Amino acid sequence: MPDLDTSQLDLDDVPSHVGLILDGNGRWAEARGLPRTAGHMAGEEALFDAVDGALAAGLKWLSAYTFSTENWSRDEEEVEFLMWFNEDILLRRRDGLNEKGVRIRFIGDLRDPRVPERNRIHMAETEKLTKTNDRLTFVFAFNYGGRMEVARSVRKIAGQVATGALQPDDITIDDIAAHLYIPEMPDPDLIVRTSGEQRLSNFLLWGSAYAEFLFVEKHWPDFRAQDLIDAVVEYQARGRRFGTA
Ligand code: IPE
Ligand code: IPE
Ligand code: MG
Repeated sequence: MPDLDTSQLDLDDVPSHVGLILDGNGRWAEARGLPRTAGHMAGEEALFDAVDGALAAGLKWLSAYTFSTENWSRDEEEVEFLMWFNEDILLRRRDGLNEKGVRIRFIGDLRDPRVPERNRIHMAETEKLTKTNDRLTFVFAFNYGGRMEVARSVRKIAGQVATGALQPDDITIDDIAAHLYIPEMPDPDLIVRTSGEQRLSNFLLWGSAYAEFLFVEKHWPDFRAQDLIDAVVEYQARGRRFGTA
């Protein structure tokens, strides 16, 4: 990895969580006359480079949107590839991340019967392997949908109401947040999306209420550690107001 320039970074003011929407793998491949799956494969290096950037910036939370609840509607071959690739990446990368002190976690509907059982087992094993790491938590949003996450939280709250443990009038914003996949995951301060598309596509809906957004033109496979650092530098130049005057 080339030397990273962190000279513009204010290390005392890094975002508590950066979310990445990895987009443009297919377009990257199509521009080279390659199958879309080649774009996903090329995106692997970008992903782990981004982790190195996050480590260099001193981030505590990084999340990556790797498969959405809507991505099942892609061609069967591509979906099958992405299921296999997620598992393959974990098996090849988890020890390296573990050695760097990275904790790996997952958000999304992992119990969905369409998720292959082997994949599910490897995700659980990886979470267990890296459980005590606390340098950086790297969250894979896999079979993730923001609306599904909120619906799941509401279902859990409804269960408490049904047993009489909670009154409907007492349900608060904090109750919804307390039943998200990882309640202790901070709201993303910054969401970065590659490939020029300016939308959330159902990523971290609840937590992104006051997120800053950065849309970069390059396709995901061209993203590098320095791009992550530069994104944080740009974030630090923004004025956030949270509704204040
Ligand atoms: C992002 O790249 C990867 C996933 C959504 C799994 P795309 O596959 O969406 O690539 P484009 O947007 O079609 O170029
Ligand atoms: C969002 O990208 C999902 C992931 C990055 C996993 P998509 O490529 O699926 O989103 P749309 O369809 O362009 O909104
Ligand atoms: Mg896309």
